[in-house]
Amino acid sequence: MTVPSGPPSAQSVPEHVAVIMDGNGRWARSRGMPRAAGHRAGVKSARAMVEACGERGIRVLTLFAFSSENWSRPRSEVSALMKLMLEALGREVNELARNGVQLRFVGARQRLSADIQERMISAERQTSDNDKLILVIALGYGGRWDLVQAAQGLAREVQNGILDPEAIDEEAMSRYLSLSTLPDPDLLIRTGGESRISNFLLWNLAYSELYFTDCLWPDFDAAGLDEALAFFGGRDRRFGRVADKVGSA
Ligand code: FPP
Repeated sequence: MTVPSGPPSAQSVPEHVAVIMDGNGRWARSRGMPRAAGHRAGVKSARAMVEACGERGIRVLTLFAFSSENWSRPRSEVSALMKLMLEALGREVNELARNGVQLRFVGARQRLSADIQERMISAERQTSDNDKLILVIALGYGGRWDLVQAAQGLAREVQNGILDPEAIDEEAMSRYLSLSTLPDPDLLIRTGGESRISNFLLWNLAYSELYFTDCLWPDFDAAGLDEALAFFGGRDRRFGRVADKVGSA
């Protein structure tokens, strides 16, 4: 979804929260621990975030777990991260399923190992009927990758004579993007002190409120989420319109 379909209400609970979980490495270093220990603590934070979002009535949570660019990290760190993903999937999926969480993965899957890909497919199958919270995990994901694969999808439709190039509009484009069936994030949270989007959901964040905090991801908890939600509740979302015209035709 690209353009807000209805009048934005004065809701203080966002429907969709996206998170760039930054700061695991610094958290570990400040404790004299290896970076992998920071990532392990990061998984615990992610788990707590899923629970806190569910309790607050947030419908979709998208976590940036591994970016296209993260493949360029030292091989040992990439292996540690992949091992952690595999373990986390093995350990958490049953409980997520029991708690009504639907799991989805977005990103370039083919570079991931076969065992991770298999666990992803099985987790998606196991949880596909759940609807309490949709948890999207971006793994091997990049916003530019997403736009490129959407362009390829559209080009194939044109090549097959299904689509007239003149008919390509925002709706057609967003059909091919990874989050096609989900609303755009209302709120983006980035921990770790940087104020940038780092090739996350480039298309979908067009009208998201952006919240940056110095808190390192392993330290981010339900109270941190509530601060972000309070920030969100105080925003005047105009979606490019004039304040007093929002909600009118
Ligand atoms: C950034 O910290 C975090 C990542 C590269 C992603 C790893 C995230 C997790 C392991 C937690 C979520 C896991 C799951 C399964 C959803 P950084 O290494 O960039 O930290 P730094 O900026 O301090 O070096």
